[in-house]
Amino acid sequence: MKCYIPKYSGFCFGVALAVEAAYEQINHSTFMFGEVVHNPAVIADLVSKGLGLVNSLDVIPEKANVLIRAHGVSEKTVREIQNRGLGIIDKTCPRVKIVHDIVAEASARGLDVIIVGTENHPEVLGIAGWAETQTVVVRDLADAERTIPDKSFSKEGVCLVAQTTHNKVKYEEVYRYCSAFFPHLEYYDTICDATAVRQEEIGRLAKMVDCVIVIGGKASSNVNRLFEIASESNNNTQHIESFTDLDLTKLMNVNTCLIASGTSTPENSIFQVIDRLKLFCLENEIAFELIKE
Ligand code: F3S
Repeated sequence: MKCYIPKYSGFCFGVALAVEAAYEQINHSTFMFGEVVHNPAVIADLVSKGLGLVNSLDVIPEKANVLIRAHGVSEKTVREIQNRGLGIIDKTCPRVKIVHDIVAEASARGLDVIIVGTENHPEVLGIAGWAETQTVVVRDLADAERTIPDKSFSKEGVCLVAQTTHNKVKYEEVYRYCSAFFPHLEYYDTICDATAVRQEEIGRLAKMVDCVIVIGGKASSNVNRLFEIASESNNNTQHIESFTDLDLTKLMNVNTCLIASGTSTPENSIFQVIDRLKLFCLENEIAFELIKE
């Protein structure tokens, strides 16, 4: 079997910075406010080393620090942390912070905000929390067509942004619909390059191989998007969190395999899958190639 590993694999820079900060904060009276990365292996390792994980500020002791993950949080949450006298280690990804700033500025001018993304995803809740005007979340074109005509919007106009890890093609479809619906739409391309390049790459390569393995957390938005895109063109696609989830029956009689990973997937998880595949195929019947372009 020949296995291909895409050029863009492992942590993106935003996740790498947040995870690095989390490891530095072990034994420093710091709590992760929500999982610092949507990857069970990384979270289990951090918790086993003593870094606390909480989902509510109420359980954080006085004078402790709060680690804000790459997904970011709402303005209200930032104020609440400050008002409680807790320290903030803000690891909101700079690219997510740009979306917060766009939304805050547009909302201050009276514009309503449409966010294309997954409702109730922490990043989307954080983005919405920087607007004082109405926010509407839609997932795709069908959702936009169903939702938008039933709402009334600010006469100042509407600003359109996307969750940074959203599917680029779906965002463009919603953009075309909204630009016809709203005469003065303010549109921002907020999909992160780190996500967009992986989506483009997996869409192109999934067609050329017999099977695709997508490695990453089931709760990770960017990993789910990669799985979705690969599945559209390759019906032998599996999404696994770790090498132990591999369905080896799907690899029988397979000659070529793409091993893709999300921006929240540590390199170690990729190496473990490679080792498992080597065992499955026997060393001399498997080869790996890192795709450079
Ligand atoms: Fe940031 Fe993009 Fe990663 S928004 S967290 S660099 S996917």
